[in-house]
Amino acid sequence: MIENDPEVFISEDDIAKRIQTLAQAITQDYQGSELVVICILKGGFCFCADLIRKIELPLNVEFLAVTAQNDLGISGAGMKVAKDINVSIKGKHVLLVEGIVNSDHRLNQLLKFINSKGPLSLKVATLLFKPANLSEQVHIDYMGFEIDQSFVVGKGLDYLGRYRELSYIGKLNADQ
Ligand code: IMP
Ligand code: MG
Repeated sequence: MIENDPEVFISEDDIAKRIQTLAQAITQDYQGSELVVICILKGGFCFCADLIRKIELPLNVEFLAVTAQNDLGISGAGMKVAKDINVSIKGKHVLLVEGIVNSDHRLNQLLKFINSKGPLSLKVATLLFKPANLSEQVHIDYMGFEIDQSFVVGKGLDYLGRYRELSYIGKLNADQ
C-alpha cells in the first residue's frame, strides 16, 4: 500500500542521471575494448541492468552470488560462492557491479576471488557506498552515491527479502 512505501532517499530521476554519468565514464575508459560485467547477486541486479543498457561497448554479463551471513548485513568469517560465473575471464577486462558497498561487505574477498581467475584488469562499480566505520581499505572506481549509515532499500536492495523492486532508494520508517 502507498502509505507503507519507504520514504524516498534517492529519487528514481537522480539515480537515472547518475547512472548515465557513470556509464559515459565507463564507455570512455574502456574505449576500443570488450568488457565482462560481473553482477553481484542479489543486490547488484537492478543497478547492473540499468548500467549495461547505457554503456556503449561490446560486453558480456555474468552473475556471481555469494552467501550473506544474514539479511541485515552482519557478516562473519568467510565468503561462500553460491553461484560462480560461467565463462573464463582470463585476459579480459572485468567490471564488478555491486548494489552497495558497506563496512562489513566482502568486497575485498570478492575481488580476491575474481582476481584469482586471471583477468587483465578488474574495476568496481557500486550504486551506493557507505564509508562509515569501514574496517578495511576499499577502492571503488565508479560510485553512484556515498550515503550515511542509514539502512536503505530498493533498486535491488532488500530488507528481509523485500523492497528490491522499488525504482528509487528508500529509507524504512521505524514501523516498517
Ligand atoms: P543481497 O542481500 O544478496 O541483496 O546483498 C546485498 C548486500 O548489501 C548484503 O551484504 C547486505 O547485507 C548489504 N547491505 C549493506 N547495507 C545495506 C542496506 O542499507 N540495505 C540493504 N542491504 C545492505
Ligand atoms: Mg540483503
